[in-house]
Amino acid sequence: MGRKRTERIVFENIEVLDAGAKGVSVAKAPDGKVIFLPNVVPGDVVDVQTTKKRKAYYEGKATKIHSYSKDRVEPICEHFGVCGGCKWQNMKYESQLFYKNQEVQNNLKRIGKVELPEFEPILGSEKQFFYRNKMEFGFSNARWMTQEEIASGKEFEHKNALGFHIPRMWDKILDIEKCHLQQDPSNAIRNEIKEFAVKNGLEFYDARNQEGFLRTLMIRTASTGEIMVLIQFYKENKANRELLLNFVAERFPEITSLLYVINSKGNDTLYDQDIKLFKGREYILEEMEGLHFSINAKSFYQTNSDQAYELYKITRDFAGLTGEELVYDLYTGTGTIAQFVSKKAKKVIGVEAVPEAIEDAKANAERNKITNCEFFVGDMKNVFNDEFIATHGQPDVIITDPPRDGMHKDVVEMLLKTNVPKIVYVSCNSATQARDLALMDEKYKVIRVRPVDMFPQTHHVENVVLLEKR
Ligand SMILES: C[S@@+](CC[C@H](N)C(=O)[O-])C[C@H]1O[C@@H](n2cnc3c(N)ncnc32)[C@H](O)[C@@H]1O
Repeated sequence: MGRKRTERIVFENIEVLDAGAKGVSVAKAPDGKVIFLPNVVPGDVVDVQTTKKRKAYYEGKATKIHSYSKDRVEPICEHFGVCGGCKWQNMKYESQLFYKNQEVQNNLKRIGKVELPEFEPILGSEKQFFYRNKMEFGFSNARWMTQEEIASGKEFEHKNALGFHIPRMWDKILDIEKCHLQQDPSNAIRNEIKEFAVKNGLEFYDARNQEGFLRTLMIRTASTGEIMVLIQFYKENKANRELLLNFVAERFPEITSLLYVINSKGNDTLYDQDIKLFKGREYILEEMEGLHFSINAKSFYQTNSDQAYELYKITRDFAGLTGEELVYDLYTGTGTIAQFVSKKAKKVIGVEAVPEAIEDAKANAERNKITNCEFFVGDMKNVFNDEFIATHGQPDVIITDPPRDGMHKDVVEMLLKTNVPKIVYVSCNSATQARDLALMDEKYKVIRVRPVDMFPQTHHVENVVLLEKR
């Protein structure tokens, strides 16, 4: 039986109308259906070939660009278009901000369906490149070959790569020469590790057969100049591991925390792994408004440090503290927001699921000589309950900054039960934030909204909302 082939349709001279969720642009086919298109910018006029046909929409790609949008800029990265990382690098920054703001508005209106005040202007990031303080790269012996490489007919000595996963291809890695997201010496560290590994015959990970030696590389940089490097190995080989780690330590003496982990699990997540120190100390220090925050390999820290400072200032401003309040900081991570607002509050209680992050939060508070913050570890839906409130007191303000999935419905229910007068909801996913706002609408009114761009060149956007009890 022959396989049914997807019908490929060509539409000519189609104007790209909008940019939307997941960084994909939107156009309309002559039959009225929506077409989702990557790598184009609203205002472009293109020929489209469909790649998928669904009842309500098409997915496609532009095969020819007839005229370019005025919102376009030349991408500066050689990997643009292949690497999935910076999908909007071909769009002017002001236009990126426009579409991010629109995305938040659409989500809050369409999913949240709550009454909204006028938005405060989206806050752009001063740094539009080299703003990330954390990058993770994968080693692979199955390098992704670009169209040009295949067309060149060139023979390659090996197929090792150190870089990013090709979108939707779990076993293929795009080799990265220069990434424009993390400051120096990030590119040098990655490239020299790769070169050394190849020269010394260290095996790159084979995801299909689950074998090999080198698995992932994480680099964290901080505004203090401190640098963390973590190399993940698939299996132990002491001689080769030490060979590589000694090379890294000698070649980059500015690394203040050199770590490794041996992880033979099916997946490469680190949360359940025993991370070992090779040289330096186990954490790096970040600084903000005179406060120091230690960050270990497992802790969450906002990836754009400069813009995190702006985000926290907006959060503090929305909270409107006078010095008399009991504040809860839910999903506190390493206790950054808690400590940031603490001098304007009577007391702050932080809650977070990752034990290492809470250890950091406590150590940070001690280092910063902050005595009015307390931190508790556990899954929010279990920890944040009536007993917790009875023990720690009725909050005056709750700040909540959940992960992308938003808050568990039990956490929302508990928030409603607290009767807290003010909630500041910081979110990196306005769709789940909108869902949660809808659940709170009966009791809480949205008073202020301000999107913040933490991730230039991508479609991601952070959003801060102030809610007050009706
Ligand atoms: C978006 S981060 C916010 C961190 C912090 N507010 C900051 O600005 O650095 C979300 C945090 O929620 C934590 N988290 C995720 N799921 C959780 C859960 N079910 N219970 C408690 N904390 C959770 C994560 O570990 C992470 O630290």
